[in-house]
Amino acid sequence: MKKLINVSLSKIKMAELSTLKTEALIIGNYESKKLDGVTKFIDTKSKGVLKKLISRNELSGSLGNSVYLPSLNGISAEKVYLKGCGKLNKELTESEFLTLALSMANSALNSKAKNIHIFMPFVKVQSKSEEWNFKILARTIESSSYKYFFKGKKNQPKNNLNKVSIISTHIGNNISTLKNSIKIGQVTAVGINTSKELGNTPANICTPSYLASQAKALSRTFPHIKTKVLGEKEMKKIGMDCLLSVGQGSAQESKFIIMQYLGGPKNKKPNVIVGKGITFDTGGISIKPSPAMDEMKYDMCGSASVMGTMRAIAELKPKSNIIGVIASAENMPSSTATKPGDVVKTLSGQTVEILNTDAEGRLVLCDALTYVERFNPASVIDIATLTGACVVALGHEATGLLSNNQPLADKILECGESSCDRAWQLPLWDVYQKDLNSKYADIANIGGRAGTITAACFLSRFTENYKWAHLDIAGTAYGGKLGKTSSGRPVSLLTEYLLSQK
Ligand code: BES
Ligand code: MN
Ligand code: ZN
Repeated sequence: MKKLINVSLSKIKMAELSTLKTEALIIGNYESKKLDGVTKFIDTKSKGVLKKLISRNELSGSLGNSVYLPSLNGISAEKVYLKGCGKLNKELTESEFLTLALSMANSALNSKAKNIHIFMPFVKVQSKSEEWNFKILARTIESSSYKYFFKGKKNQPKNNLNKVSIISTHIGNNISTLKNSIKIGQVTAVGINTSKELGNTPANICTPSYLASQAKALSRTFPHIKTKVLGEKEMKKIGMDCLLSVGQGSAQESKFIIMQYLGGPKNKKPNVIVGKGITFDTGGISIKPSPAMDEMKYDMCGSASVMGTMRAIAELKPKSNIIGVIASAENMPSSTATKPGDVVKTLSGQTVEILNTDAEGRLVLCDALTYVERFNPASVIDIATLTGACVVALGHEATGLLSNNQPLADKILECGESSCDRAWQLPLWDVYQKDLNSKYADIANIGGRAGTITAACFLSRFTENYKWAHLDIAGTAYGGKLGKTSSGRPVSLLTEYLLSQK
């Protein structure tokens, strides 16, 4: 694991900016047609450079405006970046602030500098305190510094950035709260990066056994996380036939992984997160078309987010009990694979007619969701790249959310907003349940036009005994504007939710 970037707070005054010796100085400036505050100061020192930029409409300070100045006479900093923060006193939305933070982080990293300074003016974000700004900025810097490279590849990208000092004129007696927010942001980013790394690792390396070994490694680093792994023999013994049916065509052994964090009193009900861990989804006998099938290495991103979140929790040590569960298998066609029409028994006792072996995520999750009943959970959230239909409905921006408990759904929506890792709710109405009727079993594994909803309806048959929410991350876990790379979502949302559960 790479070393954390050292993010510190600095109280130096604006008047000291011109003599500040730094490799790169990133300055947030307000929107204005004339010089004011920090731009006026830099302009005076550099003898009119910014005035010229304003007259040419190159420097506006509006959100998204970004100016790079390789060197400025009268300014000691080797490179200067100006980042528009929008109008003074105009509140930003959470996602607008995230865009600003991302732009600052990208310049910090692209500058190739080791030590940089960020002059952060006061930016009010809707219904957020300034601590929140620092948390998101620190999280964004750390998570942007992640780069995937395949072991052994030549010309591996190097990260130089080592130290970031945030200069704020607003630091007073709130310094320890700000420092704590920075820590939460950074540790969340470590979780995000853990999740990205697992998602990006190709399926010939990232197998169910690999996920199990990573979970065990986590509890070696953090002994207050206890990891237990069930192999196929143990699962067979307790009756997880439905989960096993998914991996039965693969040479890779299916694994069921339980990571337990006890930070609260023993009798306190735990919050449980359950991840889909299909390390490769060929579709099985209902095989997928070839184009873009390589993306199905990302079909374990739900489990990657569970691992990343547990990693963040391990460091943040909240005073509550949290359990992370991973249901992992490889979905392959072979002579031993499940065939369309096969009927299997789930751990709950209900039988399933597998009409399409490509609807496999729900088959591993249903047994996991029954298994976690034994923990008497306060809430259960499953996270899965479950349906292509969710990408059609919500694209790559919002995670699909379905729940049998509205207060839980509301809380998740709120945490999605405040962590810039948004979800959007779809209905879980009874009228959709009939789509799953089966002629030969209690329930069919496919049905109906509303793919994301019927998939959640399937899961809902196994979650009647607790408060449950389902997150469909097929569109948000990877891809979109990121290209073919893992996003680390929804680690931020999950961490925010779990920390809010006192
Ligand atoms: N892993 C896929 C869902 C998926 C599709 C994730 C695209 C990311 C991008 C899942 O196992 C699957 O194949 N779902 C099927 C369900 C169908 C057979 C009912 C789908 O969405 O087509
Ligand atoms: Mn599938
Ligand atoms: Zn799948």
